[in-house]
Amino acid sequence: MNIILLGPAGSGKSTIAESFSKYLEDEGYSAGVVNLDSASPPRYSPISDVREFVRAEEVMEKEGLGINGALLRSMELAAEHLDDLIPKDGWDFVIYDTPGQLELFMYTSFGRELVSRLESFTVGVFLADSTRVTSPSTYSAMIAQSAIVTLMLEIPSITAFNKSDRARVKEFEHYARELEGEGVLGEFFEKLLKFVEATSVIYRPVLVSAKTGEGFDELFSAVNEVFCACGDLS
Ligand code: GTP
Repeated sequence: MNIILLGPAGSGKSTIAESFSKYLEDEGYSAGVVNLDSASPPRYSPISDVREFVRAEEVMEKEGLGINGALLRSMELAAEHLDDLIPKDGWDFVIYDTPGQLELFMYTSFGRELVSRLESFTVGVFLADSTRVTSPSTYSAMIAQSAIVTLMLEIPSITAFNKSDRARVKEFEHYARELEGEGVLGEFFEKLLKFVEATSVIYRPVLVSAKTGEGFDELFSAVNEVFCACGDLS
């Protein structure tokens, strides 16, 4: 199975890629991480690494681009190396660690190209940063972002709120209640809930900590639930 980790910069994708792969190994599975972030060398040992083919800092220099333009261009260049990046060995789980600039998945075909080349079942895990949930509107913005990115990739997905050792997000209904009677925002939130319910196999957010491993059992169950639900649907 493939797990594509998505989410904004700093939400903890690289940290959870490493710790969740170790968790899977402790559960008796073979698990490896593929680094797709061309901007910085990973702290873990990847089974394949986009930086062997494309480095954002070199693209900046060669093509005279700023950091954001270089990241977009790096994704286009990386797409040419997908055959080398996707591992061929029989891993039980391959985790793809992606760059935090979500527009890369909206404005380049890299994400879809990757998904179309993956032969086994693929699930997206959108990682949000719990410490950044400061209001019902930041919560709904994260849920909306998760839904949009995974719709763009056309894969079933789970939203996981990371850093639960530092801050704990509340249930969806809590934020919905806070927004009741709040006019346009409240109405938007209500519609968003229906949208998320309609577009996600699992719409309840999972709380995790990449640092302590809290919530990993639940995340693993959610991944399996998505697999089974999609299996039943096909
Ligand atoms: P980009 O590569 O910029 O997209 O970031 P990322 O999403 O890969 O985040 P990364 O794993 O680099 O983590 C960002 C920071 O958050 C680091 O300082 C991590 O140590 C910290 N961090 C990640 N997960 C957790 C967590 O569960 N709890 C706490 N307290 N800190 C965390």
